Order: sequence, then C-alpha cells, then structure tokens
Amino acid sequence: MKTVIFNGSPRKSGDTATLINEFRSELKGKITVFSAYAGGISPCTDCRYCHEHSGCSIADGMDGVYNSISDCDNLVIASPLHFSELSGPLLSLFGRFQTYYAAKYIRKKPEKIKRKNGVLILAGGGSGGSESAVRTAETVFQMLNTECVSVVTSLKTDVLPASLDEAALSDARNAGKLLSSLSRS
Ligand SMILES: Cc1cc2nc3c(=O)[nH]c(=O)nc-3n(C[C@H](O)[C@H](O)[C@H](O)COP(=O)(O)O)c2cc1C
Repeated sequence: MKTVIFNGSPRKSGDTATLINEFRSELKGKITVFSAYAGGISPCTDCRYCHEHSGCSIADGMDGVYNSISDCDNLVIASPLHFSELSGPLLSLFGRFQTYYAAKYIRKKPEKIKRKNGVLILAGGGSGGSESAVRTAETVFQMLNTECVSVVTSLKTDVLPASLDEAALSDARNAGKLLSSLSRS
C-alpha cells in the first residue's frame, strides 16, 4: 500500500505535522511526503504546454509528484487554514495538476490515475471556518480520482494545540487505521 501526503504547513513541528504523525502511526505501507514549503516546486505559469502535450513544461520536483500519484493507493491533503483556505504554497503546488485537467477536458485524453482513498487533515486557530478549504480539497481529490473517506480537523489551535486535542488525535489515528483496512492493493 502506497500513501502520498501533501503537507501544506510551513511549521516542521506545528499542528498539521502533529496530526500527520499521529495519522502515520496507524498507517501501513510506504509513505511519501511532499512539503509545499520545502519542495522547490514552481507554480503553474499557464503556459498551455499541457493543452497540446502530456506532462508539464516545467522540469522540477513536480516530476516526482506526478510519478508518485500515478500508482499510489492513498492521497492525503494536510494543511493549516490560511485565510480559510489551504495554504498558498499548497494551492500553488496543486496548480501543477492543471496538466490532468487539460488532458481530460482539452486534449480529451485523460491520464490514467489509479483509484485512491483520500484523507483531509486541517488545522486552524482563528475564525472564518473551514468550508472553502474543504471544497478546494474535494476539487483536488476529484481531479486525482480519489474518494475522501475521512476528514480530520483541529480548528481551535489558538487555545488548544493539536498536540493536546485528544479528539483530533484520535480521529487522525482512526483515519490511518481506516486507510490500512481499506487498502485497494
Ligand atoms: C497567514 C495565516 C493565516 C491564517 N488564517 C487562518 C484562518 O483563516 N482560519 C483559521 O482558523 N486559522 C488561521 N490561521 C491560523 C493557523 O491555521 C493555525 O495556527 C494552525 O494551527 C497552524 O498550523 P501549523 O502549525 O500546522 O502551520 C492562519 C495563520 C496564518 C499564519
């Protein structure tokens, strides 16, 4: 079983990282983490190369992401809320999935992406709610042929850090267990 985790937090030991670690403690198989802040992945420039060709005109760390996505079984989106959304660098990385959109809707030759199970992990410590981030994550999951089977949230980190949020920690462990039990491979 292969799991790809996208970490949208700039904080190495922050709330999102805490929830990811808890989730991982119950997850079997191979795990690959891509950090939106440390990955050296450029934003999509809308150059429209992918309107005519498969792949992307930018050669960078995203090649590793495309390779991992093609055959992984599980996909995890983990992010702090920034202005009620997934963090900016994570959205920027996800912009590079435009090639999948172009393949399907413009070139009419959809990429073959293995069916996956998904988990969404969100940390927030302010006001504004998480609905926008959930909606955005759903769009990404849909593009990547992924069914979201669990959403883990710790949304009061300003008063209760994720490391002390027992309900969120338990939800994170259960999400790891669930993916291990649902393994499609
Ligand atoms: C630029 C910025 C914007 C933020 N916007 C929100 C927000 O809209 N809603 C919210 O609940 N928390 C917001 N927060 C708080 C973080 O989501 C919160 O501290 C979170 O637990 C940080 O997670 P991390 O430690 O994994 O980075 C914001 C933080 C920053 C730095």
